Amino acid sequence: MGSTEKDYDPAWSTLPEHARQVFLCTGPRCTRKGAQQLWKTLRRELLARDLIETPAGVLLTRTNCQFPCNLGPVLTVYPDRCWYGVRTDQQVQRLVVEHLSGGQPVVDLLLRPVAGDTTDV
Ligand code: FES
Repeated sequence: MGSTEKDYDPAWSTLPEHARQVFLCTGPRCTRKGAQQLWKTLRRELLARDLIETPAGVLLTRTNCQFPCNLGPVLTVYPDRCWYGVRTDQQVQRLVVEHLSGGQPVVDLLLRPVAGDTTDV
């Protein structure tokens, strides 16, 4: 199979705009805990706020296992180094409003304190 003109679409050479990158695990154990539904909610909430691939927004990426499966579904936010366990649509909405829009980590959903943060979780 040879390459086609579509392989050279300029969009595939452009870095998407974003302030943060969000990685939601859709590995097997997180998927069993509802990660696919949470993915839909996350996308919908971000789109409603024009926060997908915008300068102040998010580059959203699905991943395979990020390892702490028992604490999942696992969602990580970089460069903020935040590791979250999110289980409900309401928790995803909080994450979007408070962290991805408001810039403040949702401390009670963190799996561990952010490195360098001296506040207890
Ligand atoms: S399957 Fe999601 S962290 Fe392992």
